[in-house]
Amino acid sequence: MGEFLWKKGQSEQGADQQIMDFLAGQDLLLDRELLLFDLEASAAHARGLAAAGILTNDEADLLATALSRYAAEFAAGERELGTGFEDCHSAIEAWLTEDLGDLGKKIHTGRSRNDQVAVALRMYMKDRLHALAAQCLEIAGTLLERAERERGLPMPGYTHLQRAMPSSAGMWLAGHAESFIDDADLALMTRQWLDASPLGTASGFGVNLALPRERVAEDLGFARMVVNPQCAQNSRGKIELQAVGALAAATLDLQRLAWDFSLFCTQEFGFVTLPERFCTGSSIMPNKRNPDVVELLRAVHARVQGAQAELQGALSLSSGYHRDLQATKAPLMRAFDAGMQALDLLPGMLSDFHWNEDRLRAALTPDMFATDRATTLAAEGLPFREAYRQVAAEMGSLSNSDAARSLAERVSPGACGNLQLGLLRDRREALAQALQGD
Ligand code: ARG
Repeated sequence: MGEFLWKKGQSEQGADQQIMDFLAGQDLLLDRELLLFDLEASAAHARGLAAAGILTNDEADLLATALSRYAAEFAAGERELGTGFEDCHSAIEAWLTEDLGDLGKKIHTGRSRNDQVAVALRMYMKDRLHALAAQCLEIAGTLLERAERERGLPMPGYTHLQRAMPSSAGMWLAGHAESFIDDADLALMTRQWLDASPLGTASGFGVNLALPRERVAEDLGFARMVVNPQCAQNSRGKIELQAVGALAAATLDLQRLAWDFSLFCTQEFGFVTLPERFCTGSSIMPNKRNPDVVELLRAVHARVQGAQAELQGALSLSSGYHRDLQATKAPLMRAFDAGMQALDLLPGMLSDFHWNEDRLRAALTPDMFATDRATTLAAEGLPFREAYRQVAAEMGSLSNSDAARSLAERVSPGACGNLQLGLLRDRREALAQALQGD
């Protein structure tokens, strides 16, 4: 580590290397995810300082040009967040000072690392929630396409993992599609909810400068500013928890979908065959073909839940900034890295898995048509409870097992004979539009 931003003079003893390593934690690594956002926010801050009369327009331009050069260099792998820095915030000031001398030293006027990290994190979360919503919509799109094609393919429906009623591949697919549409919706709502800029609140008390905070917020693409400086600090960690919560909704659905696949591809069920590239072999058993990818997809939600617990645990704090808040960065980023890596695999798997039609049909036994029969009798006028008892008494002799008819007659909205895929497609489309305009 080199010199620290906050070091006031040569005589100051400061922390030793061991303590500095502890204070920085994983920040240098994690800040690689924040650097580009911080550079963008720093340029907006410089323009704000010019508007407040602290810098000339030319000075702000010089700063902004240098900052965007650092961004291009970092993106091209030509500039590193090396170990000489405490975090990305101090790196930016050090680079500017090295390149622009005293002008570089002016960038920190009217801001603190507290609002600097808060604004970069909000930009990071907006970006990740956008990607999450887009991926959920993509997954839903793949599922809806197959639901359309396979709406007539019968499959057994289960409750308690016991055979219940005839259902269809279309309903199973559309069911998961609607869940992922809900998840995209939640990601977008969460994105809107945290779309506020804390920049210019400094250490949590504002500054004695007329900073154009609203204009800077707009400049950075925020919908509004966090008004109160204390709230800007107190919301740190709380918004991370909601962002990870939106992710958790998607990984919970992923977990359920993966569970279904891992059951359906067993020899016992045999309903689906997973694409070859999603399967592995055994190191000892030559006969094995294992669904390892599906199982690791199922495990991702646990990691996201772990991040939620870690975030929650870090938040028992009084008002204002505490260094504990730094500990919210790792679980946030870890959760999004793991969650998005897993979700990104779904469209490929969902478009390429294969239904084993004969196994699906063979699993539809006559008893599963009992509810259809009881409902038919009730529609003809028999009180439902009596119809139920009558069918229960006839169970052994039920012979109707015309699955196609059962599905076609299940016309209540959303059910197999009336999937209402158009409603789901419309909702998905509306969210895709909202995402594009974002
Ligand atoms: N890495 C720090 C964090 O994430 C940056 C802010 C440091 N602020 C401070 N007052 N020490 O919170």
